[in-house]
Amino acid sequence: MIITIDGPAGAGKGTVAQFLAQKYNLKKLDTGMLYRALAKAVLEAQIDVSTQQEKIIQLAQQVTIDATEQEGLRKEEVANLASIVAIIPDVRTILNQIQRDFAHANPHPYWGVILDGRDIGTVICPEADCKIFLTASSEVRAMRRNQQIGGTPHHHHEISKIMIERDMRDQNRRVAPLSAAENAYTIDTTYLTINEVCSRAAYYIDQVYLKNKNSSSIGA
Ligand code: CDP
Repeated sequence: MIITIDGPAGAGKGTVAQFLAQKYNLKKLDTGMLYRALAKAVLEAQIDVSTQQEKIIQLAQQVTIDATEQEGLRKEEVANLASIVAIIPDVRTILNQIQRDFAHANPHPYWGVILDGRDIGTVICPEADCKIFLTASSEVRAMRRNQQIGGTPHHHHEISKIMIERDMRDQNRRVAPLSAAENAYTIDTTYLTINEVCSRAAYYIDQVYLKNKNSSSIGA
């Protein structure tokens, strides 16, 4: 069972993925953390992103799943640079392989895998069993992100501005832009509580499971 969750920053992907991973015993990968791990390495090596693409590509080759567990990846500065290095096609090719290997490794004793990001349902796992796309208004997403990082109300405007810039970069890049897969279930989370979003996502997974079960028993 492969479940994908895509959507822009602050739409609730992380919380929903965590809930579903627990409910269905799924192995989880937050794919944004791979891009963030690379961005952190680029910052630490003081690489100039506009002139030293080769060095960024070399660092991408050293990114591993373990690197996603390190501290210091949650900062907005890191997220912002992540969306800049994520434009480089060779970086995506390298990180895509890590994500596909994760999705297709035997996840025993798990029931399956869940990956969240921007292009999981469209590029990484187009064959996924259930694809969910989360959206929300940019105002609400900025408010959630500000709360998440413990910012005061006067940070809201700054967070909102950075987030809109990041959205634009993610939506308009040439390779694997943020978009919902044709067969994704879209949930607009603007006016929903997190519990409502989680129940709706779980409902979609249950529907897919029942459909798969019925079609395999009909074929048997
Ligand atoms: O947590 P949030 O949604 O704010 O961001 P994230 O998922 O940690 O991703 C950080 C950045 O990595 C995004 O803005 C994207 O530019 C990039 N990313 C991507 O290009 N493809 C993915 N599958 C995941 C993240």
